[in-house]
Amino acid sequence: MSSNPTTINAVDRYAESRRLFEAAQEFLAGGNSRLTVYYKPHPVYVEHGEGAYLYDVDGNRYLDVINNYTSLIHGHAHPEVEAAAVAAMRSGTAFAAPTGAEIKLARLLCERLPAVEQLRFVNSGTEAVMMAVKAARAFTGKPDIAKFEGAYHGAYDYVEVSLASSPDNWGDASAPASIAYSAGVPRTVLDEVVVLPFNHIEETRALLRRHKDRLAAVLIDVLPSRVGLVPATREFVAALQEECHALGILLISDEVISFRVDYHGAQGAFGFEPDLTTLAKIIGGGFPVGAVGGRREVMAVFDATEKSPMVPHGGTFNANPVTMAAGLKAMELLTPAVFNRLNAQGEQLRQSLSDIIRLSEVEWQVTGAGSLFRLIPTREPLTDYRSAHLTREQSERAAQLHWDLMNRGVFIGSGGFGCLSTPMGSAELESVIYAVENVLQSSDG
Ligand SMILES: Cc1ncc(COP(=O)(O)O)c(C=O)c1O
Repeated sequence: MSSNPTTINAVDRYAESRRLFEAAQEFLAGGNSRLTVYYKPHPVYVEHGEGAYLYDVDGNRYLDVINNYTSLIHGHAHPEVEAAAVAAMRSGTAFAAPTGAEIKLARLLCERLPAVEQLRFVNSGTEAVMMAVKAARAFTGKPDIAKFEGAYHGAYDYVEVSLASSPDNWGDASAPASIAYSAGVPRTVLDEVVVLPFNHIEETRALLRRHKDRLAAVLIDVLPSRVGLVPATREFVAALQEECHALGILLISDEVISFRVDYHGAQGAFGFEPDLTTLAKIIGGGFPVGAVGGRREVMAVFDATEKSPMVPHGGTFNANPVTMAAGLKAMELLTPAVFNRLNAQGEQLRQSLSDIIRLSEVEWQVTGAGSLFRLIPTREPLTDYRSAHLTREQSERAAQLHWDLMNRGVFIGSGGFGCLSTPMGSAELESVIYAVENVLQSSDG
């Protein structure tokens, strides 16, 4: 490939970004506030975004195929979303009172998601997942949760368990070990999380049956970005739902990213009815947001109208009117026809990239669904976290691909993760295809 990420520092193309990152070290621990936007030797600093494009502080222009990690489904500064947000801002940005705006967005989401009768807003996907776990514990009276090996659900200790386990510590494939993600996590947290093998029906059933008396919920993302963006099989999801119902364990569908795959969310696309659903990213129209929703009976744990709620829930910026107005406009623009067009583009992109990979005979593959895609440096079939786990050499090739695409004006997530946005047309798709082809054919694979 054309340039090594460790030598990119020498390239003038990123001189101002490099200068800013050096300045940032003084006041920001590690130079920034967000691990997912840090990559070696330094991140690219953005100056502004417009539609499908980004401009960095050195004046370089990029097609943005990561869209703030999938949250900007209409790209940057969409005129109608911007107008809705600005109008809301002119009337004040947050009050110690609810506004009617939250009812409108809640109603739209409940109407679209088959398994969501009621919801509550928070400020991030992390918070949404945390509240869902607390709701499940309160509702069932059981303390523990189960989650899938390698799946990302935000920065709550419990749901980080075994997010990044590795061959030297992940244990038995049929009963994965509970491994801490960050230092200092108490042993008790690890003991309170059962780790399940993604897409393995019999092993998952066995673990749920063994631990049913202590499990409040199973948390699943049916299209987990860190498990290779490999979808759960429909049989697996159906079996999981059946088993959870039979055992009195709630099923939580984390659709923070995967809501964007269908007008009716991942639950609509995969045909299942979780007890609780977590949302974030696209529902905020580009502003910080999250939501936890589900069956009325379960959501009643938050209800303070008749007695003290089982789960008291507050938050200074929950359902603030700017986020609500921008989110409502962004969702209204996402009609079924718009979803169909975006998903057809996603399908076309994945197909074209797969064709290039096949013809170039390189060790890559493309995964994903809807408007999401991921380029993975292996041709081995991927089904679960262990098969999608990259060796050091593969991780280096993924990091290299990231820079090679950035150098060609394609702003992609580190690790080859990407998504489309509604301002993109065929010219944008072709430029991604052209850039990937160019990179793969100039490499030794
Ligand atoms: C599936 C999933 N759940 C939860 C989160 C956490 O969301 P947030 O970054 O808004 O806290 C993410 C973030 O990417 C996610 O992908």
